[in-house]
Amino acid sequence: MTSEASAKVIADFTAFSATTRRRAPLYSSISARIADAPLLLNLMLAAPEPARVPVNLFAAVHDLLLADRSDRLARYYPNLTKEPDRGDPMPEFLAFCSARAPLIQASLATRFPQTNEIGRSALFLAGFDHLESGPLAHLDLGASAGLNLMVDKLAYRDADGGVLGSSEVVLDCKIRGEPGRLAGSLPEIRTRLGLDIAPIDPSDAAGLRWLKACVWPDQADRFHSLEAAIELLGRHPVVIRRGDVVDDLASAVDAVAGGGHLVVTTSWVLCYLEADRQRAWLSELERLGARLDLSWVWAEAPSQVGVLPVAPGLAASESTLLGVTTWRQGVRSDRTLARCHQHGYWLHWL
Ligand SMILES: C[S@@+](CC[C@H](N)C(=O)[O-])C[C@H]1O[C@@H](n2cnc3c(N)ncnc32)[C@H](O)[C@@H]1O
Repeated sequence: MTSEASAKVIADFTAFSATTRRRAPLYSSISARIADAPLLLNLMLAAPEPARVPVNLFAAVHDLLLADRSDRLARYYPNLTKEPDRGDPMPEFLAFCSARAPLIQASLATRFPQTNEIGRSALFLAGFDHLESGPLAHLDLGASAGLNLMVDKLAYRDADGGVLGSSEVVLDCKIRGEPGRLAGSLPEIRTRLGLDIAPIDPSDAAGLRWLKACVWPDQADRFHSLEAAIELLGRHPVVIRRGDVVDDLASAVDAVAGGGHLVVTTSWVLCYLEADRQRAWLSELERLGARLDLSWVWAEAPSQVGVLPVAPGLAASESTLLGVTTWRQGVRSDRTLARCHQHGYWLHWL
């Protein structure tokens, strides 16, 4: 392995350390010392080049720690212990990695970080509230493990402490602007389906653990919400088809339509498509909208998704925006509803 490759890994970890100092102090402090940790450097250099990103190493280690939470390393992880040790985590981190080097290497060679953010259900709820009342057929594109197919199974806390819904998984989404609430009621979802090019099987414990492992331990609240949502998913199984959002959209629509008004959702998925595929996706949705009434609720960032139907003043926005596009008797209409936190922690009505 060239020294150029080592220098790149060191530079990437150093940059990661700088950007995460406030949000992820645990990973930041370990990253800052990569140059003095030949074990970590060698693990990274043994991985295929696209996999040599800091978050991939940290997810691989976190995953193994979640499988053995009694290991001494856990005491440095704010999501795994009530009073985390604020001392130097490096000796335990290195000991943990040294004892499991082949497993970490295998993980780096075969997996890449994957996310499914339950907080985005609050954004979908706010979008659904702008549709006509009546039962829905929910098709979530880029559904990952399908957590956001449980919009009606969650509860949502208002700024004044009121809670909409009754569920052990309660989302807090701070509201700014009018109306001062997310939604008037929960939707009635009659049928639901997810579509994803690389789905996490909601019944696969290892896949779900990987999803948890990809959350940063310093974001303990996010980790605990995800754990609770995964538990809920176990009691409300959903189906996720493997497929592409462009090529397999029509067949997914056929599979779910008929169960109620069809609502297609996308949250942080269209940004993964090249510009020409984004255009192809929208044309496909247009084609379907010409033949059946449907709605598209989206939570995406316009700067990364050129096809979002936003006003010119919002087209370069790097914020996550929430919008609803509807087709009724072939007539399309677009509304941008709100600016949001990308994980759904707040929503500002426009
Ligand atoms: C950042 S994750 C977001 C997951 C979920 N929508 C959420 O908000 O939590 C993006 C998801 O899009 C999926 N994806 C990316 N490109 C896709 C494609 N062409 N077709 C279907 N799914 C795709 C990925 O596999 C991943 O699960």
